[in-house]
Amino acid sequence: MKYIREHISSKILLSYLAVLLVGVAVLIIVVFFSTPAAYSHYMESGAMIVNGAPARGMMDGVVPGSGMGRALGQGQGLGFTNFRAGVLSAIAYATLAAILVAVVVSIFFSRQIVAPLQALMSASQRIADGRYDERVQVSGSDELGQLAGRFNRMAERLEQTESMRRQLIGDVSHELRTPLTAIGGYMEGLIDGVLPVTPETFEQVRMEASRLSRLVDDLQELSRVEAGSYRLDIHPVMISMLVETTIKRLQYQYDEKHVTLTRNLASDLAPVLADEDRVTQVLTNLIGNALAYTPSGGEVVVSAAKIDGEMQLSVKDSGIGIPAESLTNIFDRFYRVDKSRSRAAGGGSGIGLTIAKHMVEAHAGRIWVESAGEGQGSTFFFTLPFAK
Ligand SMILES: Nc1ncnc2c1ncn2[C@@H]1O[C@H](COP(=O)(O)OP(=O)(O)O)[C@@H](O)[C@H]1O
Ligand SMILES: [Mg+2]
Repeated sequence: MKYIREHISSKILLSYLAVLLVGVAVLIIVVFFSTPAAYSHYMESGAMIVNGAPARGMMDGVVPGSGMGRALGQGQGLGFTNFRAGVLSAIAYATLAAILVAVVVSIFFSRQIVAPLQALMSASQRIADGRYDERVQVSGSDELGQLAGRFNRMAERLEQTESMRRQLIGDVSHELRTPLTAIGGYMEGLIDGVLPVTPETFEQVRMEASRLSRLVDDLQELSRVEAGSYRLDIHPVMISMLVETTIKRLQYQYDEKHVTLTRNLASDLAPVLADEDRVTQVLTNLIGNALAYTPSGGEVVVSAAKIDGEMQLSVKDSGIGIPAESLTNIFDRFYRVDKSRSRAAGGGSGIGLTIAKHMVEAHAGRIWVESAGEGQGSTFFFTLPFAK
């Protein structure tokens, strides 16, 4: 019983046998109840001459419902018994042949089903043990083949997630180590009397601490964005309004650093489909970066225009520029062209552009950067769809 419960092949064989047994049982019952009438009918239509039995009496024996008992009692017992034995032995041979075929066919089919299932079973066990590179062979396009395909896709996603998780932990611990080491160093210097006990020293420590807390905020935002657990409230908005708001917010910092900030917006811009807060966040990021990476006396221009049926925004600066080899990586998380310079420029952890990219792509837009090289300034572009 336990074997049957645990093996599909035995269930398949049992189901074949059940069908077969019911068929045979019905056949035997039918033979028992209908052959007397059929036999008598047959005898009456010609065989009676051979038998020499009175036609009348035989007819009596086969009144419907009178049963084989009476038919047998009418003097044809021997012929009928032989006939029935013949039929029954034919059924017995047919049954044997059918059982044989059922066994062979069920072995064949259960091999076809059980083998891929066993492959899936052992593969899923290995994945559960943490071996995410496990795949099963896909064969055929039936449900089992589809299941194997889906299984492989699932394994692939798990593998990706796992490698992303590993890389993220590596990156984050690296990012955390820098300010922590700095704070530790300052404290050690203070305790040993190597560093002067001045407000400047404490200010350095405070700056490292605030860098840490900025990093934690960025990480939290990044994980929200990468997990897609934020809602976009998309509706038609005037992009010029968002640009004005962002510029107003950042104007003071621009004035302080003596970088000029100008706008160049086409006058007849139609509304775009966007989430105001998220687009403002992207603009703040790009215009903030432009300030961080542009020395005093430089200038930044924010433009918006309709190009190829899309709204194209750009933030152009006259700053330090970006070397060609960094142009493709600049949107990767934690990527900074020059870590020490980024830190000195008041830059963050290299997450800002990653979040901006996620946001723009969530709006079905594109984001990219162009720069002629170091010291040549850079221009960041992104697109947004117009409201219909
Ligand atoms: N306007 C720009 N000019 C030159 N380099 C830039 C500019 N914007 C971004 N970068 C480079 O791209 C890196 C990633 O930017 P971002 O993701 O905003 O991180 P960060 O927190 O360092 O500003 C920066 O560290 C910097 O090296
Ligand atoms: Mg930034």
